[in-house]
Amino acid sequence: MIVKIPYSKDYHTCITEARERQAHHDAPILNDVPNLSKYEVIYIGPPVYWNNMPEEMVTVLKDIDFTGKVIRPFTTHEGSGLGNIPNQIKKYVEVLK
Ligand SMILES: Cc1cc2nc3c(=O)[nH]c(=O)nc-3n(C[C@H](O)[C@H](O)[C@H](O)COP(=O)(O)O)c2cc1C
Repeated sequence: MIVKIPYSKDYHTCITEARERQAHHDAPILNDVPNLSKYEVIYIGPPVYWNNMPEEMVTVLKDIDFTGKVIRPFTTHEGSGLGNIPNQIKKYVEVLK
């Protein structure tokens, strides 16, 4: 997945950008969502941004058909662990609702 608008290299600008993209659910991606049809287990491993996944990941997840898949979440983080990401997956992955 390639973000359409790269995040700033300046940390403070970057965290503001991440917050705004999450608040407005506005995070386009450049490429098509991946075709996962031949996989049974899907690992979703975003970095934690503001206790959530980067909004670009939400953009991708909303467009994938996870019917019949096993989802295993993991993250990279600086203390939040999985944070709110399992809840986000439940919210945005239609089949888990
Ligand atoms: C915008 C932004 C928000 C972040 N928010 C959190 C957070 O809420 N909790 C946390 O543990 N780490 C947070 N971090 C740290 C990132 O999770 C960490 O830098 C990332 O997992 C490292 O992976 P990377 O090298 O691929 O960026 C944040 C980092 C950024 C840039």
